[in-house]
Amino acid sequence: MDKKDLLFYQAYEDFYAMACESKAFELFCKDAFGADFSQDGFSDLHQIDMILQNIPEKDNIHILDIGCGNGKMLGYLQKKTGAKIYGFDYSSNAIKKAKELFVKDSEFKEGLIGEIEYPKEKFDLITSMDTIYFAPDMSKFVLQVMSWLKTNGIFFVGYQEGDVIPKTENVKTAVLSQILDNNNIKYQVYDITKQTYDLLAKKREVALLYKNDFEKEGHKDWFDLLMMQTECTTEPFDSFKKKMARYIYVINK
Ligand SMILES: C[S@@+](CC[C@H](N)C(=O)[O-])C[C@H]1O[C@@H](n2cnc3c(N)ncnc32)[C@H](O)[C@@H]1O
Repeated sequence: MDKKDLLFYQAYEDFYAMACESKAFELFCKDAFGADFSQDGFSDLHQIDMILQNIPEKDNIHILDIGCGNGKMLGYLQKKTGAKIYGFDYSSNAIKKAKELFVKDSEFKEGLIGEIEYPKEKFDLITSMDTIYFAPDMSKFVLQVMSWLKTNGIFFVGYQEGDVIPKTENVKTAVLSQILDNNNIKYQVYDITKQTYDLLAKKREVALLYKNDFEKEGHKDWFDLLMMQTECTTEPFDSFKKKMARYIYVINK
């Protein structure tokens, strides 16, 4: 498979090129999400701290992030826990930066969802923030990820419907819930649609604060994109939630 033909491939190459050099974007992430992990989604510090609560307190922990971007979220988890960190992403700009930033106890690879392989029973925790729905076959990919987890390991997923994949009726009908139910996989799920709406509104407010900085850097196109991505918060939450839903899944092996 030629990755250049995949959904948003060039857009992510451009995004990570910008994220790796832009001071305005770094400041935007700090103010909007509580920390700069070069987020292109919704992973604020509150959600990342939920991940931390699912990391066992023992030595020699291995954590994999699917769609890791430039690795900054993994770097934060490593700083907090001392874990060995692994990540993959199809963006070569992102992986190049991750390798520069995090050299100790780390392994970053350029790779594609559905093609990359890891050893079975390798990881204590696998995370995937707003990435799993890029899988060409989500059901197959979920089972593959579960095989990479140790027994009692956790797969932590930030999952959205209404953007890359269509919105279904409710959390029970969500494609990921259906896959897990059909395969008798145990999980807890948290509906964070309202928190996501509030976060998008905050992203919009903070982006407006840094508008001039984006422009001075020659990154007005990214400011415009942030405005477009957050336009949905100009409508009330009741209409927003009819079109979009976001859930956190804590999946147990
Ligand atoms: C919505 S972003 C989320 C990034 C990051 N996890 C976050 O929370 O900000 C999706 C990520 O998945 C990567 N990605 C998209 N499709 C992919 C694929 N088919 N294989 C590997 N990575 C992919 C993108 O480069 C991007 O880093």
